[in-house]
Amino acid sequence: MDNETHFKRLVIAAYRLPFKLNKTKKGYKAVQNSGGLVSAILALSENFKKSNKDLKNSKIVWAGITDNLPDDVTSDNFENENFDILPVTIPKKINDLFYGGFCNDLIWPLFHYFPSYAVFNSDYFKAYEEANIKFCEELAKTIKPGDFVWIHDYQLMLLPEMIRQRVPDATIGFFLHIPFPSFEIFRLLPRNWRESVIKGLLGADLIGFHTNDYTQNFIKSVRRTTGYECQQNTIYTPNKLVKADAFPIGIDYDKFHDACLKKSVIAEKQKLKNHLSNHKLIFSVDRLDYSKGLLLKLKGYETFLEMYPEWRSKVVFNMVVVPSRDNIEKYKKMKKEIESTVGRINGKYSSLSWQSIIYQYKSLTFNELIALYNLSEVGLITPLRDGMNLVAKEYVACQVENEGVLILSEMAGAAAEMNEALIINPVDNIEMAEAIFKALEMKSEEKHLRLEKMQNRISNYDVFAWAFDFFNQTFETKEEQNTRNVRFINTSISSQIVSDYKKAASRILFLDYDGTLVPFEKYPELAVIDKKTLKIVKDLSKNPKNKVVIISGRDKKFLETQFAGINVILVAEHGYYIKKGTDEWEATMNTDEQWKEAVLPILNEYVSRCNGTFIEEKTGSIAWHYRNADSDFAQLRLHELKDDLAEVIRFKTDLEILEGHKVLEVKSGRYDKGQAANSLMSEQDFGFIFAAGDDKTDEFLFTALPDSANTIRVGLSPSFAKYNVTDIPALLTLLEELPV
Ligand code: UDP
Ligand code: G6P
Repeated sequence: MDNETHFKRLVIAAYRLPFKLNKTKKGYKAVQNSGGLVSAILALSENFKKSNKDLKNSKIVWAGITDNLPDDVTSDNFENENFDILPVTIPKKINDLFYGGFCNDLIWPLFHYFPSYAVFNSDYFKAYEEANIKFCEELAKTIKPGDFVWIHDYQLMLLPEMIRQRVPDATIGFFLHIPFPSFEIFRLLPRNWRESVIKGLLGADLIGFHTNDYTQNFIKSVRRTTGYECQQNTIYTPNKLVKADAFPIGIDYDKFHDACLKKSVIAEKQKLKNHLSNHKLIFSVDRLDYSKGLLLKLKGYETFLEMYPEWRSKVVFNMVVVPSRDNIEKYKKMKKEIESTVGRINGKYSSLSWQSIIYQYKSLTFNELIALYNLSEVGLITPLRDGMNLVAKEYVACQVENEGVLILSEMAGAAAEMNEALIINPVDNIEMAEAIFKALEMKSEEKHLRLEKMQNRISNYDVFAWAFDFFNQTFETKEEQNTRNVRFINTSISSQIVSDYKKAASRILFLDYDGTLVPFEKYPELAVIDKKTLKIVKDLSKNPKNKVVIISGRDKKFLETQFAGINVILVAEHGYYIKKGTDEWEATMNTDEQWKEAVLPILNEYVSRCNGTFIEEKTGSIAWHYRNADSDFAQLRLHELKDDLAEVIRFKTDLEILEGHKVLEVKSGRYDKGQAANSLMSEQDFGFIFAAGDDKTDEFLFTALPDSANTIRVGLSPSFAKYNVTDIPALLTLLEELPV
């Protein structure tokens, strides 16, 4: 793959360092930590430079926790040719509440759909913040311009925003290695915790998930938690756009595949074969975790022995459970249950010459693992919930002779890419038993077909492709942010605007009202202009060289009240009415309002169908406001409403649907803000033209004005306006700079 990388250093932040240190007689021995995150990032680091020529001179720094280490251990003990270690130390008391508490007693069960296991404790959250701050402090000391900061997993979800605050220009990616749950689960987190988590993550430029489902769940949670505008996979935060996307993590395919042919692995296989004699091997390896569905797996296997007695004494199930978190009560209890269930099943079915389950609670060496993957006829991977599950991919990569069958839970992220596996629901013990039977009876031809398809896919999108896809998309996001940034008003642009303004003998300033001069409120009548803003408008309007136009979708009466006694031109209802100074209101055209009879009942129906919405009826238009409704539900209804209205509008060609901020409006298409502006512009020549607005209705205005106009969109949305300002205060600051 021809990847273009743009960084000199990859700074990885993950709770777990790749190794733990085991004490030996000679000192300490580094042993790989368990889990898919470590497996993947370690594989990436080992072959990072080889995988891409641009990285020849690049470095990796890995920041991770070094808690509970003996005093005589320093970061030198972790010395590694592939990366430098940045140790982060967190006091034990905080780490217990952070890692044992917030991470593994709350986020882990919640995000894996075990809400009843979730423990809500405010000390947990405080510790989570403190631990993330610790990581931030260490990282802030090392981050340099040109670094790529890559933060991993649920232990560090506040970190992206913390780093953004310290190093605003940093390139930050975040990857979540576990599922992101549906909003209904996510919302169980107390409001300020879920806001912190979402805003913490949005500090990154790109947020990656294993599957599209998790990405969509996240985007929905962003919308529901913050109200930020999201278009497809782009989230518009007040400061920048952020992307969220799916990057299904891969493995170092060649490493696994080629290892099967290594002498040491062949020797290991021979040892195993001798033990197995002629028994067919079913194999599974999982960390000790309730999310892995270990007890249900045993139930499925037991059902298989029950349903297919002819297979008893012909198969052996080697169930390896890798030690993990076994100082947590739930895990300890589960381990005991697993062991007693294994004992019970073995007691029931085994004989002197045959043991139905070989259970091991230990970590395997790489060679042992490869040999087992390669030898087993069936890989039984049946988690109740799993972000991805790398074991499934490793198993497939190790089928060099193509004689194995993968049985895979539909609840694993991997199932989205591996549908040639025998996909089962892990709670359905009969389905699992039938799948084991089918796998054992499957003909070689079918096994080959299934495996080859999966092997092609996972060898193409391996861990390197995954990482570089992520890096490239982060840089693309940065570029997109930059293209927008050039449109942002900076001091030199605002000075230019001020200087053009000063030079001009006659000027016209078009100012939209809602969202431009005045923030949105729950109900339109509450959004009244404050004294300070009114003074800005008044001061500008006093200058005889200026024509100030308030150009709005509001009705006549409202605008008149807000700007009473001020010498401005008012344009109401998107250009339907104009009032110049003390003159009377003028209708810009005669329209027939008969259409309202057909449209009003439809809009009323949607008020009943969507709680919190209401109608605003004006002379020339009717608006359906959904600001106060549940935003997802309102979106759904909005689509339906547009469909229903399209039917009516089809026969009344004059009508159009206008979408503003959380409002849908039906009006005649014969007038808009652009036409109103043109008619005012035609009365005189203006040396300085200025227009500010915040939503789609103002785009008519921006496009109607000549290129020389200074057009400004408030907010971050893409626009025909020349510039953007972030928010209302930024616009008011600019207006204040214009001399009165
Ligand atoms: N693994 C390990 N030690 C072992 C057996 C397996 O580290 O004794 C590795 C395995 O090769 C895989 C990872 O642990 O890469 C497990 O990742 P997975 O995504 O399947 O599950 P997770 O543990 O992350 O939930
Ligand atoms: C999963 C998580 C990792 C975690 C690993 C091992 O793979 O995604 O973040 O490190 O499990 O769990 P542990 O609690 O031992 O770090």
